Amino acid sequence: MRVLVTGGCGFIGSNFIRYFLMTYPEAAIINVDRLTYAGNVENLSDLSPSSRYHFVKGDISDSLRMEELIQEGVDAIVNFAAESHVDRSIEDPGAFMKTNVFGTFVLLEAVRKIYSKRSIRFLHVSTDEVYGSLGETGAFTEETPLAPNSPYSASKTAADVLARAYYRTYGLPILVTRCSNNYGPYQFPEKLIPLMISNAVEDREVPIYGDGMNVRDWIYVDDHCRGLDTVLRYGKEGEFYNIGGRSERTNLSVAKTVLDCLGKPHSLIRFVADRPGHDRRYAIDFSKIKKELGWEPLVSFEEGIKRTVEWYETHRDWWKRIKTGEYLTYYERMYRNR
Ligand code: NAD
Ligand code: DAU
Repeated sequence: MRVLVTGGCGFIGSNFIRYFLMTYPEAAIINVDRLTYAGNVENLSDLSPSSRYHFVKGDISDSLRMEELIQEGVDAIVNFAAESHVDRSIEDPGAFMKTNVFGTFVLLEAVRKIYSKRSIRFLHVSTDEVYGSLGETGAFTEETPLAPNSPYSASKTAADVLARAYYRTYGLPILVTRCSNNYGPYQFPEKLIPLMISNAVEDREVPIYGDGMNVRDWIYVDDHCRGLDTVLRYGKEGEFYNIGGRSERTNLSVAKTVLDCLGKPHSLIRFVADRPGHDRRYAIDFSKIKKELGWEPLVSFEEGIKRTVEWYETHRDWWKRIKTGEYLTYYERMYRNR
């Protein structure tokens, strides 16, 4: 199987590539990534270029380049490429529209040009944020109405409905997954858990928005990667699948767990101004993927957070290079003499 992964130098994409190559010794991956601030070639520096792994620096909104790559002959596309941080979408929504909406459109169009001649599957990686915010009870199902509240989630919703329309109109072989909050190795330290760990390790404050009672449904990244693989292989074309971690926690309780794991005092917690439009609660009902495809999360939050804290403690150089900006020169240094 030859798979085109987009955005593979980011957090989930890099974990997925490593998982996929290890799980399937015959598989080959082409990773196309624009290397925005969130793309870090170092995330995959343990994989040397080979017949099984090939990196291409490119933008998913570049239609000629995407057509070229897809026409080279791939059996599947897994689209991770996105602007992914809600706070940045509030500051500068434009980049989110360009990559998340227009970039997905470009990929769908490239697939439209070839799908009748060749077997291919297009897995679009989406998010539970498209459903908006929950009250105190209940959980998102695939039938929950779409009600995004941030420019980020609005752009992801637009991409989802484009994918749906391409299935309904053209019969394009699309699959869409909607996952809850991931955590684990290689997550960029602007997101809550790696930000808290990396700050606390250096005895710096851990910022908590609002009253800290917003709830997220945390999933260890390996479980998400396994879910994506399951949908890619066995999912029914045109279908949407929720993926969740069975681990609802308030942000305040996550902060306390992280500090306890590190042996740091809770006094490092600092309540700061809330995020505008901040969704109160997410929770995923993943009974569809469990019943139809046999997937469920395997890593408990307690186990996952222990592994994650250990990884960040033993990979200080990785996140320190990000915090100083040094990581941005890694690609140039690595590829200078090629
Ligand atoms: P990330 O920000 O860590 O990585 C995104 C990657 O996409 C980076 O490598 C970046 O360089 C690349 N990219 C951005 N714009 C591009 C473009 N125009 N062309 C090519 N590459 C481009 O994101 P992540 O957390 O790994 O999320 C990956 C995907 O999963 C996103 O689509 C996100 O919406 C979705 N998702 C994330 C989570 C989560 O908790 N992190 C949960 C559910 C869904
Ligand atoms: O639910 C899936 C989504 O999860 C993905 O689609 C997004 O790509 C991903 O970024 C994530 O979105 P969130 O906004 O939920 O993640 P973030 O890590 O930014 O924030 C998690 C929670 O923690 C949220 O309630 C906001 C809060 N927060 C965040 C930061 C960065 C804080 O309290 N303090 C912080 O400094």
